[in-house]
Amino acid sequence: MNFLLKATISAIFAISLLISSASAQTTRKHTFEVGDGAFLLDGKPFVIKAAELHYPRIPRPYWEQRIKLCKSLGMNAVCLYVFWNAHEQRPDSFDFSEQLDLAAFCRLCQKNGLYVILRPGPYVCAEWEMGGLPWWLLKKQDIRLRESDDYFIERVDRFEKAVAGEVKDLLIENGGPIIMVQVENEYGSYGEDKRYVSQIRDIIRKHFGENITLFQCDWSSNFTLNGLDDLVWTINFGAGADVEQQFAHLKSLRPNSPLMCSEYWSGWFDKWGANHETRSADVMVAGIDAMLSRGISFSLYMTHGGTNWGHWAGANSPGFAPDVTSYDYDAPINESGQPTPKYWLLRKTLAKYNGGKRLPSLPDLVNPIAIPQFEFKYVAPLFWNLPDTKKDFGIKSMEQYDQGFGTILYRTALPRLDIPSRLIVSNAHDYAQIFLNGEFIGKLDRRNHEKEIVLPACEEGSQLDILVEAMGRINFGRAIKDFKGITEKVEIETKLYGKPFVYDLKGWEVYNIEDEYATYADKKFMPIDEVSHRASQRLPGYYRATFNVDYPSDTFLDFSTWGKGLVYVNGHALGRFWEIGPQQTLYMPGCWLRRGENEIIVFDVVGPHKAVVEGLKEPIIDKLQEYHPARRRNLSLDKERVSFAGEFGAGNGWQEVRFDKSATGRYVCLVFEDAHAADDIASVAEIYLLDGDGERLPREEWSVVYADSEARSHENHTADKLFDLQESTYWSSDEGDKFPHAVVIDMGEEHTVGGVQYLPRMEQGAPGSVKHFKVYVKSEQFMF
Ligand code: GLA
Repeated sequence: MNFLLKATISAIFAISLLISSASAQTTRKHTFEVGDGAFLLDGKPFVIKAAELHYPRIPRPYWEQRIKLCKSLGMNAVCLYVFWNAHEQRPDSFDFSEQLDLAAFCRLCQKNGLYVILRPGPYVCAEWEMGGLPWWLLKKQDIRLRESDDYFIERVDRFEKAVAGEVKDLLIENGGPIIMVQVENEYGSYGEDKRYVSQIRDIIRKHFGENITLFQCDWSSNFTLNGLDDLVWTINFGAGADVEQQFAHLKSLRPNSPLMCSEYWSGWFDKWGANHETRSADVMVAGIDAMLSRGISFSLYMTHGGTNWGHWAGANSPGFAPDVTSYDYDAPINESGQPTPKYWLLRKTLAKYNGGKRLPSLPDLVNPIAIPQFEFKYVAPLFWNLPDTKKDFGIKSMEQYDQGFGTILYRTALPRLDIPSRLIVSNAHDYAQIFLNGEFIGKLDRRNHEKEIVLPACEEGSQLDILVEAMGRINFGRAIKDFKGITEKVEIETKLYGKPFVYDLKGWEVYNIEDEYATYADKKFMPIDEVSHRASQRLPGYYRATFNVDYPSDTFLDFSTWGKGLVYVNGHALGRFWEIGPQQTLYMPGCWLRRGENEIIVFDVVGPHKAVVEGLKEPIIDKLQEYHPARRRNLSLDKERVSFAGEFGAGNGWQEVRFDKSATGRYVCLVFEDAHAADDIASVAEIYLLDGDGERLPREEWSVVYADSEARSHENHTADKLFDLQESTYWSSDEGDKFPHAVVIDMGEEHTVGGVQYLPRMEQGAPGSVKHFKVYVKSEQFMF
């Protein structure tokens, strides 16, 4: 470049800086308020059409393209969460730079004519590690999360102060795009502690000021549990729900409130080992139309979901259901930023509500590339590359060793075992592999409530290794206090001199294997062919390769021949893979690739079948490779005693039926004999069992052992949806399967059952609502 050209460019740059700072100074201030039955923007009624986007889930170079896609879709706002644990990874060390530059993201929204709704938690749910709370809170073991715990509240205060410090000048009153700020998140589905919710409101007020509109969101069935008198109340529900009915309760309590669905779920998230979730585009768009035709505001969650990079995916509960890396969500804009058929259909509808103006055209789209298969020639075997060890008498969780993420190895020497004995691990969070003298002998998968395996007879001093990989911390429900590693103890049940004997294993060597690129890159890699390894065993370790790219662009790296682990490309964390699926490829954004040579490191805790990867032009996020024990066996109830027989009424909403006599047992069989409609379909959104006093029994340990029919061909209506804490998802029998339908639930331990609460589907008329039912409660398994 010649000097003159350079000088001219700098001059233009300087002038444009001057102009932009001048325009920033003169930015007009606006107002956003709650009026009579409507939101008011500069005093005029304003219907919010918000696109939910999460900036940490989108590569920064693509932020603006995604924002423009939302603008072209017909949205007028962006709704976003602020993930506390991403911004404050260590106490008091705040990061709002690069990928986490919240203020820059808000400015980009404003530049593209979109308002911003800010949801700074502190808890956000969002299928994000621990619902956005930092893991280090758990170092205070007795902490009460999302409650008036002094330490928790103090940390929230510091975090909200930091967030406000970043964006206060971007509030609408200061000429910025932020029109509303949310207080907490769906607290009614967690607790009823209005004092705590008020504390959070006060913290937000203190840091964001008195003028900004504050709101809180929840479900129509429970928002009063959380609702404060001085805040706006909004309702969350998914595609298909009956819009009128969703707002009926709110309207009766606050006839003059503006109405908003603050999370209208466009699709749903995926869990490892379960079918990919999809939701109909027609149904979703019909709901938007129904809202806009009534002047109801909405935020479409998600409009573009993006990706749970690295170890940031959360896990659902009851039980433990870790989320996959892709947060595609079956949203209108898919994970890699491509508009889907849902996008085009929605755009058509939103065009009707654009004040007669044409919608802007779409920004340029990325053309994905394929990368030919390449081989990994280097490995650093995990057991030859362990970090320094710590010695500990008792066993502790990861957090107590100051480790937040990754894998932890517990090693000890065994007593002599003369006979095969039970090894009981209480509890391994989340995926434990057991090795005896270096040989893999089994795994314990928390998803399946697996807690024990049989150890073969062995000599005294034999080496026991328990390698525990932590997945995401639970992000929903009371189980968010989710410690990792081994949480309690390890025991061996055996016989000594012919008598039963229990060893509580002590004297551990502990290895903390942090999930960090620098740690992985630093290992002693060696040519794979030089590693002598038993062919029957898979080789856990760090695998490294380089691959060439001529023209960097988006691609999808295929990990279907690998075990379970995490991937880094050029130092960027791409996320987890797990052979069971449904996700088989990882989204590789082109903006993180280099022309020429690129480096990839894979940490596979199980070991690959074949250490090769190729880049595909299309993602594979819907291929399950796990063997599913058939749930459809022949359940025989002929010899069983009915504990209760009753009837549910028709229509939407919760119903409760108390038994005339309580029954005790661990296994519960629910039989649905017929439905209110004549179409042979049975559907149930949620079931609670009540104890003898009418209190809800805990569902954390529940698992499904039998379901005669589950609709899985299109959407994922499996029987675990009966107790997934989500009112919008449901179990449904499959088309063509005849009544009666039966589901057997293992409650994990004995309980007295004295009643049932039942929620039919949320859709108008409660499709599939069941009528006559029977309940069997037993201590032993049912006969299949
Ligand atoms: C709730 C939460 C969100 C998200 C959705 C499900 O509405 O508020 O954060 O978890 O469920 O995707």
